[in-house]
Amino acid sequence: MTATAAAPSRPEASLLSAPEPPKYAPSPAGPVDTDTPIHLPPGSSRSRLRQTLAFATNPYNSALRDTAQYGEVWKMELLTRKDPFYASSHPDHIRSIFTAKPDDAPAINYESPLKLWLGDNSVLMLVGPKHMRERKLLLPPFHGDAVARYIEMIKEVTAEEVDRWQQGSTFALAPRMQAITLEVIMRGVLGIEGLTSWRTPERRFREIIKHFLGLSTLRGYQLLELANSGNTEPKGPLKPMIGTIHSSLDAVIKARRAEGENTGRNDVFSLLLAARDEDGQPLTDDELRDELLTLILAGHETTANSLAWTCERLMRNPRAYDRLREEVRAGTGEAYVEATIHEGMRVRPVINFVARKIQRPWRFGEYVLPAGTGVALSITGLHHRPDVYAQPHRFMPERFLDAEGKFVKPGTYTWIPFGGGIRRCLGATLAMAEQRVVLEEIARSVDLEAPDPEPERGRQRNVTTIPIDGGRATIAQKLS
Ligand code: HEM
Repeated sequence: MTATAAAPSRPEASLLSAPEPPKYAPSPAGPVDTDTPIHLPPGSSRSRLRQTLAFATNPYNSALRDTAQYGEVWKMELLTRKDPFYASSHPDHIRSIFTAKPDDAPAINYESPLKLWLGDNSVLMLVGPKHMRERKLLLPPFHGDAVARYIEMIKEVTAEEVDRWQQGSTFALAPRMQAITLEVIMRGVLGIEGLTSWRTPERRFREIIKHFLGLSTLRGYQLLELANSGNTEPKGPLKPMIGTIHSSLDAVIKARRAEGENTGRNDVFSLLLAARDEDGQPLTDDELRDELLTLILAGHETTANSLAWTCERLMRNPRAYDRLREEVRAGTGEAYVEATIHEGMRVRPVINFVARKIQRPWRFGEYVLPAGTGVALSITGLHHRPDVYAQPHRFMPERFLDAEGKFVKPGTYTWIPFGGGIRRCLGATLAMAEQRVVLEEIARSVDLEAPDPEPERGRQRNVTTIPIDGGRATIAQKLS
């Protein structure tokens, strides 16, 4: 037998066991002296309109095409921003930003269209000491122990949803995942459970938010946002939409304040009502409203789309899907479920990049960017680097398993769907818990099939990337 004949073909081997992780070459990164000569990276000469359209209609492709064409650091120009962004996909560049002193590279989420919805007090929009104060107040309800209390509730909500799926039916998974994650947020964060009377402010808020979230998924909505970009106050049809949501949430806050703090509830809202900062100060009503809306908006669509993508990938990767179902149905799926979620979030990160504004000149490898520049850490670019992930376009949960099949945690600066540093996603533990429960339930109780074998491409919706057809699936079989 020849050596060639004895060796299994590489793609086959890599599907069955974790591939050897490739090594990336280190690259210098971080703040530099003000007299260091500026050296800007290349970027597309296409108009801002064309770059914006490319990003909105196919975000993964636009990032991967740019990095293939211009290298690991490149210039991006979007209509939503007057000045360019400089994007990077190198782990060392990303580390330099995530570990920077907060004042050296503050976030610029306040430039996002979400600002009009979330207001001035949202943890997502704030920078500096105010951001740290809000983050400290919000963190405790999102710690592991606190989240563990919600697992049974998440299981209940998921089982109710999956139970409604009919064998033989075909539908988009994303809206169904969104129904689950919105319900989880309503129950876990706001303590709004079940169908309370129409007259309660909770019920009114719940129906209003569902209605407006539905409107925000329509394609024309993005034009509304674009028309409002750069505005400090919402204008046009966005104004009454946002106003109605704010006033209905204000009514919920008023009613909950009236109940007092010792209600015995354990939802995040109650914990926030009771929270005090280092000076003993509680959150004001405006702060509460902005934070609650932040948790609802940042927390449910991201998780829902992430799940829809993982299913979209599984349906088109039968080996991984078969293994997942076999292991889950045998009761041994814990590590494989974890690896599958990580692989879904690697190959289809729902947030494409996180942005900061450097306050000092900054080195990204051979380039030096001036102070005051917007930098975009490309999650898509990083997650598709062949020197970080072997065969990066393939869906291989095995890459997160060791030889014994145990889950291996990815690197802090090489797997970043939740961002990093002092702005790492506050809800990451909750999002992971939800994804575990939902994926397990789906793997256990239904067989999904893609009605169209072609992969779905991404499109931008609000701030997340969603499968273009919402992750369409046919329920080929429903198990009891
Ligand atoms: C798969 C689901 C999710 C993904 C992929 C995700 C992703 C992210 C990312 C990338 C950031 C960082 C933004 C930046 O650096 O500027 C972030 C921040 C944040 N996320 Fe998530 N998120 C998810 C779920 C959730 C959930 C469930 C919640 C809460 C219920 C949540 C609440 C937040 C908040 C409050 C921040 C702001 C943190 C800060 O600025 O300090 N997210 N998320």
